[in-house]
Amino acid sequence: MTLEETAMTFTELTADLETPGPDWRRTAVVYQIYPRSFADSNGDGIGDLPGITHRLPALAELGIDAIWLSPFYKSPQADAGYDVADYRDVDPVFGTLADFDAMLERAHGLGLKVIVDLVPNHSSDEHEWFQAALAAAPGSPERDRYMFRDGRGENGELPPNNWESCFRGPAWTRTTNADGTPGQWYLHLFDTKQPDWNWENPEVRAEFLDVLRFWLDRGVDGFRVDVAHSLIKAPGLPDQEPAEQAAQDAETDGFFLSGPMWDQDRVHEVYRGWRALLDTYSPDRILCAEAWVPSLDRLARYVRDDEMHQAFNFGYLESEWDAAHLRATIDKSVAANEEVGAPTTWVLSNHDVVRHVSRLGLPAGPRPNGIRAGDVQPDHELGLRRARAATLLMLSLPGSAYMYQGEELGLPDHTALDDDLRQDPTWWRSQYTEAGRDGCRVPLPWEADEPGLGFGPGGATWLPQPDSYATLARDRQDEVEGSTLEMYRTALAFRRAFALAVGTIEWIETAPGVLQFVNGELTIVANTGNQAVPMPEGELLMSSVELADPTTLPADTTVWLLTEVFNESQS
Ligand code: NOJ
Ligand code: CA
Repeated sequence: MTLEETAMTFTELTADLETPGPDWRRTAVVYQIYPRSFADSNGDGIGDLPGITHRLPALAELGIDAIWLSPFYKSPQADAGYDVADYRDVDPVFGTLADFDAMLERAHGLGLKVIVDLVPNHSSDEHEWFQAALAAAPGSPERDRYMFRDGRGENGELPPNNWESCFRGPAWTRTTNADGTPGQWYLHLFDTKQPDWNWENPEVRAEFLDVLRFWLDRGVDGFRVDVAHSLIKAPGLPDQEPAEQAAQDAETDGFFLSGPMWDQDRVHEVYRGWRALLDTYSPDRILCAEAWVPSLDRLARYVRDDEMHQAFNFGYLESEWDAAHLRATIDKSVAANEEVGAPTTWVLSNHDVVRHVSRLGLPAGPRPNGIRAGDVQPDHELGLRRARAATLLMLSLPGSAYMYQGEELGLPDHTALDDDLRQDPTWWRSQYTEAGRDGCRVPLPWEADEPGLGFGPGGATWLPQPDSYATLARDRQDEVEGSTLEMYRTALAFRRAFALAVGTIEWIETAPGVLQFVNGELTIVANTGNQAVPMPEGELLMSSVELADPTTLPADTTVWLLTEVFNESQS
């Protein structure tokens, strides 16, 4: 089907279809903006808030419902802003609070909700309260806001327990007293510059409620909550069991975890308190958990009806491109969430993982934490083909979906970045064995013929863009039939028109390697195998690749078929 025919079908079909009006928190397509790499307004090579404001219309016309911004708060940027020094201010590198307000107003004017990132597990070591804690004596109220402990061993020379940082290396750093003698240790589940807050301390709890109020009063529509499963630690901070530690080490990026620092039952009381606060605001505000917990049942606990509204489904992100595996994950996710009355929140990429175009172009195996020039390189063509098919599958599922900036362009990771340019702390903390996440954080290509591919004036980019980004630049895809950008735009429009987000999944048994289900008026078919199969019946609405033969569904392809029209034409 040509683009023109698709557009006609779309206009005809949507003429008498009502746009769904349910709770946006159950259905939204949320676009993640990584501010550092979205658009630069002042030519310093780093994306910023005015850059976002300037480019917002491009997002609105894509057909998304909301944006989520990774942190733009005051920060020494030891972990790209996930090390917050002031939760109530904008870092000068990204702009000012006035720039934030202007961005928010523009987004709202375009009908987009705005979700901001909240980082409650840890602050920056440059946060005023951490500096006060360092200056105060052991046992002081200032120290009690963080996780300070005496060391083990005769002279306190050993860390208080065996916990390891998610970015590798020990999770404890020893302090130095004012007189130069070695002092207590403090806990940091991430970088040394990210000390963990003590969530047993009422002052800390009150402070975060106040931070929530600060942004809610400014008009934000909600929060994505960073490492939501880690705030409460097991009493007594017991050692990590060797088996759990081994599992943690085996995790490619150390995020999918169980142990005394993860997913403790009492963390939920924190979120009940936050939810109660959000419920006092109108219009509706959202909480979305980033929680890499080991099972979908444990994840569903974060979205019980008095807690958060959403939790990223990383089980789906981690699924292999394999029909049986995908179906099992989809079924388990939907069942676990239905149990608590919550929607499922699908996700394929974000700023912490290798982009799905690159991931799906690699031989099957564990998800790597970044790809380096000397590593096995992804097959870009295969990866893009599968990524498009995986996206059409994701966008056809009921619930909410998150997109990571640039996936609508089919961007791969930068997989040959110069090691000297790496900025992810994982790179040095792993003794230069894990590339880390810089490859998925490269500045976006907007205009192929502009310097820096239109990222900002003058062409500076804080990380170099790979050569492939020129042909994938947004202006090379805009209104170009068959482009990934047009596929996303069309899929988002159909998703809305056919109310797929509020539908249900009815599986149809079919060939091995193929997923087929009905959602409302559509039949969705995804061929994850490497053989073509006969095309099921129905009128072709859209396909993840151009089809040479409409009677055949090729390998690594997803199609959306109109079931209703087919049935009518049969009667
Ligand atoms: C999860 C964030 O997505 C990641 O980027 C960050 O490094 C860690 N949490 C620590 O804040
Ligand atoms: Ca800038």
